[in-house]
Amino acid sequence: MTTIVTDAALPLVSMPLSAAETAAIDHEITHYPQRQAATIEALKIVQEHQGWVSDGKLVAIAEHLGVHPSEVESVATFYNRIYRKPVAENVFLICDSVSCWMMGQPELMAQAADILGIQPGGTSGAITLIPTPCLGACDQAPVMMINDQRIEKLTPEKLTALIAQHRTGTGMHSGEARS
Ligand code: FES
Repeated sequence: MTTIVTDAALPLVSMPLSAAETAAIDHEITHYPQRQAATIEALKIVQEHQGWVSDGKLVAIAEHLGVHPSEVESVATFYNRIYRKPVAENVFLICDSVSCWMMGQPELMAQAADILGIQPGGTSGAITLIPTPCLGACDQAPVMMINDQRIEKLTPEKLTALIAQHRTGTGMHSGEARS
């Protein structure tokens, strides 16, 4: 493990990348002229393996790419589908951009929060509920994603059924080496 002192003088301890993560990131690096250009792909790879990107893994990515952790953090912050906190096995992303908002997103989000007994951003059982910007299917609003599956023309009835279908499971995403 390596301890790095950030600009904010907060020591961050690196959590080593697994062999599989390292191999996948190294493969991505070959597609770019500079190692740091693979930052977003590296974050996605770690998230695929862990379910989210912890501070320790973020520092490990920075070390591997030869950049400062703050640079990796700024990329992670920019991409709203990089999770910096543990999430459940099923991530419900409900679009809150204008088309979906006009087609009933506030009511749908309130419905989901009410059924799950949480606030947006929270987790209940195997579901984490997150508002998200445009999912790129505005003509099919309201739209949501469950993990990698996009659901269009969402209705209250569909949402209730989807919650019932996904709320039980193993709970939190089971990473290979949660840090
Ligand atoms: Fe919701 Fe574009 S506004 S998908």
